[in-house]
Amino acid sequence: MKAIVVTDQAAGTAGMTLAERSEPEAAGNDVLVEVHASGFTPGELTWPGTWTDRLGRDRTPSIPGHEVAGVVSALGYGTRGLSVGQRVFGLADWTRDGTLAEYVAIEARNLAPLPGDVDFTVGASLPISGLTAWQGLFVHGRFQMGQSVLVHGAAGGVGSVVTQLAREAGAYVIGTGRAADRQTALDFGAQEFVDLDNDTLEDVGGVDLVFDVIGGDIGERSAGLVRAGGMLVTIAGPPEAQPKDGLAVDFVVEADRAQLGEVVQRVRDGRLRTNIGQVADLDAAASAFNPTERVKGKTIIRVRP
Ligand SMILES: NC(=O)c1ccc[n+]([C@@H]2O[C@H](COP(=O)([O-])OP(=O)(O)OC[C@H]3O[C@@H](n4cnc5c(N)ncnc54)[C@H](OP(=O)(O)O)[C@@H]3O)[C@@H](O)[C@H]2O)c1
Repeated sequence: MKAIVVTDQAAGTAGMTLAERSEPEAAGNDVLVEVHASGFTPGELTWPGTWTDRLGRDRTPSIPGHEVAGVVSALGYGTRGLSVGQRVFGLADWTRDGTLAEYVAIEARNLAPLPGDVDFTVGASLPISGLTAWQGLFVHGRFQMGQSVLVHGAAGGVGSVVTQLAREAGAYVIGTGRAADRQTALDFGAQEFVDLDNDTLEDVGGVDLVFDVIGGDIGERSAGLVRAGGMLVTIAGPPEAQPKDGLAVDFVVEADRAQLGEVVQRVRDGRLRTNIGQVADLDAAASAFNPTERVKGKTIIRVRP
């Protein structure tokens, strides 16, 4: 099968090459998925699981991409709950070969049914941004209706979903990002916008929940904005600072079939819009992930037409 592979961590996305690999086999509790569309987040090339397996053994050349939408083509021993021919979408294991390929073997529990009226391209754009936003807001952030939420990178892949889910759940949302992202963030539902290059973040005052996707200095200063009893949730690594009278939590997104169902239902009924910036085929994937100009929104690879 055709696949994108990486062998050199230092090279980043520039090290992606198209290669011929053997098709994976479905192990126990796996399904084999015929990949129709694949999503990739650049951060994964910095995660150890891309380069080594769970025992720390080199697993290069490895296939990146951990979001998938496709069709089940085979079941492993003992696999239950999904059928051959079923449309599915989900999040592939971090320590196994991923979805920038014609086939991927993936644990059935990491997948959810993809309704027939949701395009594969849309399906592949949802697992990381949808699950990360859901888990950060509702699981780790313990969001409650009426709270104020500061969403960093509100025009980006994760931030745009956080903004929409928070608004739907009854939040007052302040989005942040670059000057050029103001209108996008407002269109996704932010009620205010802070341009991090030109405005003063501290002017926001106090908020109940900060959702940080940036980290560093922005994350550190955001801790000071959390009201008593509030929460700083971050996906940008261990927090640099703790809120004085609140909690800081950092987490890594996990597969969850029920939450995937919640997310895709919102896409179907128009409550949630995904943020797809460009679509390319597998032959053009390496150049699509190394754009010469900035691409707003997610890049999705359409593996089958
Ligand atoms: N822990 C987890 O489970 C998890 C899950 C998903 C994603 N992540 C990580 O979270 C980060 C965000 O993911 P994403 O998919 O949402 O990325 P994204 O689509 O690139 O969105 C990030 C947004 O924040 C903006 N931004 C970043 N740094 C900024 C700064 N210093 N000032 C102003 N705006 C800034 C970006 O603008 P520019 O494009 O102009 O920089 C972009 O609009 C990535 O590092 C990703 O690897 C972690």
